[in-house]
Parts: sequence; C-alpha cells; structure tokens
Amino acid sequence: MPHRFPSATKVSHLLHGGDYNPEQWIDHPEVWDQDMRLMRLAGVNIVSLGIFSWAMLEPEEGRFEFGWMDTILDKLAANGIAANLATPTGAKPNWMAAKYEEVRRCDASGQRQPQQGRHNHCFTSPVYRERTTIINTKLAQRYGKHPALAMWHISNEYNGECHCPLCKAAFRQWLQRRYQSLDALNHAWWTSFWSHHYADWAQIDAIDGGVHGLVLDWKRFVSDQTADFMRHEIQPLKKFTPDVPVTTNFMGIYPPLNYWKLAPLCDVISWDAYPGWHNEELEQTAQTTAFAHDLNRSFKRKPFLLMESTPSQVNWQEVSPLKRPGVHRLASLQAVAHGGDAVMYFQWRKSRGSCEKFHGAVVDHVGHEHTRVFGDVAALGNTLARLDDVVGTPTNAQAAIIFDWENRWAIDAEAGPRRSHKDHDLTCRAWYEPLWRQGVGVDVIDMDQDLAHYKLVIAPMLYMLRPGVAQRLEAFVASGGTLITTYFTGLVDESDLCFLGGFPGPLRKLLGIWHEETDALPQRLTQSIVANAHGAELGLTGSYEAMHFADLIHVESDACRVLATYGADFYAGQPAVTLNRVGKGQAIHVAARSQQRLIDDLVGGLIASLKLLTALKTAPPVGVNVQRRGQGKGSHLFLMNFTHQAQQVTLDPGAHTNAEDQSTVSGSVELPPFGSLVLRS
Ligand code: GLA
Ligand code: ZN
Repeated sequence: MPHRFPSATKVSHLLHGGDYNPEQWIDHPEVWDQDMRLMRLAGVNIVSLGIFSWAMLEPEEGRFEFGWMDTILDKLAANGIAANLATPTGAKPNWMAAKYEEVRRCDASGQRQPQQGRHNHCFTSPVYRERTTIINTKLAQRYGKHPALAMWHISNEYNGECHCPLCKAAFRQWLQRRYQSLDALNHAWWTSFWSHHYADWAQIDAIDGGVHGLVLDWKRFVSDQTADFMRHEIQPLKKFTPDVPVTTNFMGIYPPLNYWKLAPLCDVISWDAYPGWHNEELEQTAQTTAFAHDLNRSFKRKPFLLMESTPSQVNWQEVSPLKRPGVHRLASLQAVAHGGDAVMYFQWRKSRGSCEKFHGAVVDHVGHEHTRVFGDVAALGNTLARLDDVVGTPTNAQAAIIFDWENRWAIDAEAGPRRSHKDHDLTCRAWYEPLWRQGVGVDVIDMDQDLAHYKLVIAPMLYMLRPGVAQRLEAFVASGGTLITTYFTGLVDESDLCFLGGFPGPLRKLLGIWHEETDALPQRLTQSIVANAHGAELGLTGSYEAMHFADLIHVESDACRVLATYGADFYAGQPAVTLNRVGKGQAIHVAARSQQRLIDDLVGGLIASLKLLTALKTAPPVGVNVQRRGQGKGSHLFLMNFTHQAQQVTLDPGAHTNAEDQSTVSGSVELPPFGSLVLRS
C-alpha cells in the first residue's frame, strides 16, 4: 500500500519524485512498466500526474477517456508510489479554444490571443470555469478513493493577466467593492493630476501606467482574480475529497503574483526552483535560493514541498550547464535544510518531441538507469529515505525580513530620485546575507504578518506602509524587539499617496527622525558613512562607502542616538545611522545604501547582542552554509559547501551522528567541493 497523507503536514517520509507524463507514451505500454521499475530503483515515492492532460482526458467536449489514467494509478498503487494528481487547467485543449473564444486571453491592447503554448486561459471566463468544474469534479469523483491519491496539484504555475472584456468588467466590480464610490476612487488615485478624473466606472482601463494607484490596484486585482479562480478549482475537490490536501506550485519570488493571497488556499505550500547553479557565483545563487525557500516556508510557517527542480540542466536559461557532481545532492538538501519535506523534479522522463525534449529528467532518452544523472537521483533517494525523522520538523526563525509584494510593485512603478538601481529585491537579499551566513533562522514575511515570533525584524526599503503597519512595528519594538529600517521608507500609503507632514510618515515617531530629502548618488559622486563611538558599541567601525540612495535626516527624539554620520559633501556630519530606544526595544535606521560590510557589521553585532541562535557556535568559512532544522535534541544540522574547494567546518563540542550512516562525528569535518552532510544532534 502506498502511504497516504493523513494531513498535509504529516507525511511519513520525505517525498521524492516529480512530474510524470505517461500520456506521452500511451502507445508504448512497455515504457509504463519500465517507469515503475525505474521509479522503485530511484527511490521515488510520489509523482505529479496529469498536469497537462486535459486533451487526453477529454478529447472532445463532453467525451471523457479515463482508461489510461485508471491503469497508471493502479500501477502506481501496486508499486507503492503516491499520486499528486493535477487538475489539467494549465493548458487548454484545442477544441475548447476553437469553440469558445472567451477562454483565450486578450493582451493589454485588447487583442485576443491565438491558441498556442499554455498557461494562457482567462481567469474570469464563465465557460472556462464551467469546463474546469466539470473535469475537476470527474477527477475527484473517480479517483477520490483511489489508494494512490495523496494530494491535488492545482493547475500549474498560475501566472499572467488577461485584458478581455470580461476581465475588465470584473476589475471595475472589484474597484466598486474596494472604493464604493467614484469620489473615493478619484481621491485615492489622485486623478486631478493630468485631467485623469473618472466620471463613470466604464472609463477605467487598466493600462494607464501614469496613475500609480491604478497600476497598484490592477496588480492587486490580478492576484485576487487568480486566487478566485483557484478557489473555484478547489471547490469540487474539497466537496468530494475534503481530506486530500491541495497545493499549487509557486515560482519563488515571482513578482506579478502576491503569493500571500494564494497561500491560504493551499493546505501545503510548494514551489519550483531552478537556480542557475553554474551561471552565477555559486554562493550568491545559494543565498538567493535559500531566501526563496525561507519565503515559501514562511507562508504557513510550516514545511513546504520542493515541487520542481531539475535533476541536471534546464533548457531555457541563456546557457544551461550540467549540474556538477555533488551539486544535485547539495541543492536538494538545501531545500530540506530550509524546511522542505519534498525533493521533486521536472521531469521524470524526457519527452521525445516538442519544446522540452532536451530539458533535464531523471530518465534520459537512452531509456535505462545507467546514466550519471539517474545515479545522482537514486543516491539522493537513498539519502532522503534515511531522513524520516526530519519530516515535519520546524525551523526556528528568530529573525524576519519584510519582503512585501505590494511594496515591490509600488517601488517598481514609482518615479523618484533614481530609475536605475532601485534594487529592492537585491537589498532584501543583502540584509538576509549575514543571517544566512551564520545560520540564523529567518522568516521572509509581508508587512501584515504577526511579529511576536521574532527578536529582530528587518524591513528594507519599506516605501509603502499599509494601515496599521506602523502601529504593529511600534508595538513590536515597545515590547522588546529590534527593528531595522532603511532609506526609502515610509513615503506612501496603500494607494501610493505620499504621507503629508514629514517622512517617514507614520514611522516618524518610532524611528525618532524626520527624513527631509533624498540624494541620488550618481556613480561619480562618492559618499561615505562614518561610525562614531556609539556605532562601535553595535559593531560599526571606521568608514563605509555609500551609494545609490542617501537620505538627509534629522534626529527628533531625545532617545535617538546617532551611530554614524555622512562623511562628505554639503551634508557631511549629518546623521546616517540612528538608534531610537522605545519601550524595551530599539529601532535602528540606516539612511543610505552602503557597501555590504556595514550590513554585515551591524547585523553581526545584533546577532551577538540579541543572542540569536546560530546553527554553529563558530561561523563556517565563507561559501559554506550551515542550517539547523528542528530544535534541541533530535534536530538536524545541514552542512553545505557551495565552493569549488574542500572546506573545514568546526562543529560545536560534543558528539554528532551522521544521519546517513550513523557514524559519530566530532571536532571538525572536511566537506569536499560541493559536499554536503546531515548531522543529528
Ligand atoms: C516550469 C513548469 C514545467 C516545466 C519547467 C521547465 O516549472 O511548471 O512544466 O516547463 O518549468 O523548467
Ligand atoms: Zn479575461
């Protein structure tokens, strides 16, 4: 019997498997039997099935062909392999696109798109919703009690937007619900500017990029409408299979969709990770990927599933190198280290034709198991099978980074002191870096989340403040928390209207400063941030280079101390880093963008003074990352070498157990290039 998941979070093994497209081999039943044999060999315990199978399940409107799916599910069950069964809405059949024009999206100019590719259905179309309900109901009724069914994979990588008449009408209704009156909308969008006043809801079109409130609301609508479609998809599944968890595969930090809106609809979060391991600096790639893993874990503060990754190379990066020996295991264990309860692939077997035939897969065109990649995957399957006691364990995040979709959108749209190098996402990564390097658990959250879990909250470039956020940050600091804010903070409200009466708006009291102007630094202008004796107490020393943004601020509160000042130009000597004591906590403000060393020094000082838990007492060498999953006894340490050299890691005193071979390890360990090790404490 395959294992069933009693609930989304109580899987009994780490999941190992991937996207499986047996319908491509429907005329080759021997391939199906080979697949079962090879899956067992590779330690596969789950496959994602039927993701793009609509035309095979419903070849003509109302005519259904479930025979092949019955056979495959029975084979999976007989082989102890679970099914993550998909709703097939990621690609629509040709008959549907031909008969019902409205299921095809319109682009921003209103032009109806031809049937092609995938992921391009209208989320509003009643016809698409109706056809979705029919197929999803049939799947749920037919397979709800099948022993292989473990989970529902809802559609695939929701993305994109549609400007058809139905979507435009839905947007206007959405706006009516949000604003009630046109007066309220005209005020929120500041439409007295450039004669943009709306006298009728029908005049509103989403494409006017000059109206920033409109730009934001359209993006909000697209996220909400995608979530609404997903809710619609899930309804029949929950009706017939209330106990089967649902997930949809996210795409990391994908900018267009606010995943915080989709996350509540999922019983378990999953995401698809395709880092360019050998296209960029390996350590940077590791950091960016870790950040995205932490974000995906933070949506529910629970383990997530790595739904897709490539066992080897992809076929869509500018250059798609092979994963070097060791890197597949390293990247996969990194997901587990950050809270992943699954390592899954796109794809199980390479397709023979069409545009993904050269994308990496567990099974190559050669068709047998004697390949390097299959060997890597099978070895990993073996490793994962030894890590049952990792399943479901938490990570202990005492720090959080605020990374908020609406804030990103607003910064993107904004035309202010600089158009190049706004770099919101990179800035969040830069503040994440010292925490990651020392193995401090970090949640990546939006500005609406509960802050009570954390000792340290970093809110880089919190340009927009939605209602209530400043009050919650105040309460967090007053009760003992440490907050770090930066330049470009507290400028606009949720409609992108500037705060009047002094920046950083509602944060002015908490930070104890008034931000009067922002200098944008061209490459040729040098500026510096010079630490003073107060700064030294927090770990700041000497002078740091500043670039891109420099806010001119004034200290306004007696409890606010200056930790560093500007070193050059007409504002030399004015405050650049401040610390305001409020209640039992502190609010630190960094008014300019700086070289990484300032961030490392400041956060490093706080890790020590706040006694944040680090994975190891001695920080590992640069390029090696150590993460702890679980707490105290029974927790696991993941040691990962993201460099081309062997590296020595100093362990905490005492004996540790190698989780794979149960040998005892103490003192220090050497990791080979790209090496990785799991220890049980
Ligand atoms: C995405 C999709 C898959 C496949 C892979 C290729 O993640 O979900 O269907 O196209 O990309 O990398
Ligand atoms: Zn539409």
